[in-house]
Amino acid sequence: MGEMKTIGVLTSGGDAPGMNAFVRAVVRTGINKGMRVIGIRRGYNGLIHGDMVEMDMRSVSDIIHRGGTILYTARCPEFKYQEGIEAAKKACQEAKIDGIIVGGGDGSFRGAGDLSAAGVPCIGIPCTIDNDIACSDYTIGYDTAMNTAMEMVDKIRDTSQSHYRCSVVEVMGRHAGYIALNCGLAVGATFIVVPEIAFKFEDIVAKMEQAQATGKHHFIILVAEGVGNVTELAQKIEESTGIESRATILGHVQRGGNPSVRDRVVASQMGHYAVTLLEKGIGNRVVALKDNHIVDYSIQEALKMKKPFNYNEYQVANDISF
Ligand code: ADP
Ligand code: F6P
Repeated sequence: MGEMKTIGVLTSGGDAPGMNAFVRAVVRTGINKGMRVIGIRRGYNGLIHGDMVEMDMRSVSDIIHRGGTILYTARCPEFKYQEGIEAAKKACQEAKIDGIIVGGGDGSFRGAGDLSAAGVPCIGIPCTIDNDIACSDYTIGYDTAMNTAMEMVDKIRDTSQSHYRCSVVEVMGRHAGYIALNCGLAVGATFIVVPEIAFKFEDIVAKMEQAQATGKHHFIILVAEGVGNVTELAQKIEESTGIESRATILGHVQRGGNPSVRDRVVASQMGHYAVTLLEKGIGNRVVALKDNHIVDYSIQEALKMKKPFNYNEYQVANDISF
C-alpha cells in the first residue's frame, strides 16, 4: 500500500449530533500529519459525482458544537452495485484520494468494505443516534439524542400530570430499543416497550393498575419506534383503563441539536484514531468503543457481531417505576 498523501472524509446515512466534531477531528489530524484532506459532500453521492472540497484548518472552525453535518449526508443506492463502487474508485483516482474515513451506520460500513476491497482503504466511524452498531458499545449521537428525548418527555410529563392522563411516547431507534430503554429509565416511565423484549398489552394495563392502586394518576409509556403504532396503543390503553391517553411521536427532533460532551469527545477521539490507522496504511476497519477504549475491527468482522440488550437495566426500570 502506498503512502497516504490525501485522505477523504464523508458522512453517510442518517445524520447524528457529533458528526461535525468527527469531521473536524479528521481534518485537523490529517493536516497536522502533513496530509491533504478532502471533504466529500452528500455521502457516497458526492464521491461518485465529484462533489468535493479541499479542507483547511479553518474549514472546520465553529462546528464542534453544531448538530447535523457540514458535509451533508445522503443515501446512495448506486453504491450497493459494482458499477457504483467502480465509479467511486475512479473518482478517487482522479482526485488522488488514497483513503477515506466514513461516518455512518452499518449500511455505510458495507459500502466502505466494498470500496476497500476495490483498492481504496476505508475506515468506518459509528455515527447514529440508534446505538445499533454491534461492534461498538457507543455510537456518536446517541447521548445527545437521548438527552433531547428525555427533555421532551419531561415537558410531556408536566401536561400529562396536570390532566391525569397517560402519555404514550414514541422514540426513534429504527429496529433497536436502546434509546427507549435508557430514556425510559431516565424519565421514570411506567412501562417501556422495546422490540428486544416480548410484551403483552395486558402487562402494560396491569402495571398501570398496580401504580394506580398506590395513588398514581398520570403515566408515561415509552415505546421504541420498532414496536408499532403508538396512536393505536394509546387508544387501546384509554379503552381498557378509562384513563384519557395521548400519543406523541418525538421524531426528528431527536436527531438535531448541539452535541453533548460525550458525543463531542468520542467523535474527536474516534476521528483522530481513524487518521492514525490510515496513516499506517491500514484500511477496511471500523473504529469502536469497547470498555471505554478505542479499538478497531475488520469491517466484515464488525458487521457479523451481535449486540447484547441490557435486560438488567430493563428489569431495574420495571422494578422502580410505579
Ligand atoms: P446507515 O449507514 O446509517 O446504516 P443506510 O443503511 O441508509 O444508513 O446506508 C447508507 C448508504 O450506505 C447507502 O445509501 C448506500 O450508499 C451505502 N450502502 C448501504 N448498504 C450497502 C451495501 N449492502 N453495499 C454497499 N453500500 C451500501
Ligand atoms: O438511524 C437513525 C434514524 O433516525 C432512525 O432512528 C429512524 O428509524 C430513521 O433514522 C429515520 O430515517 P429518516 O431520516 O430517513 O426518516
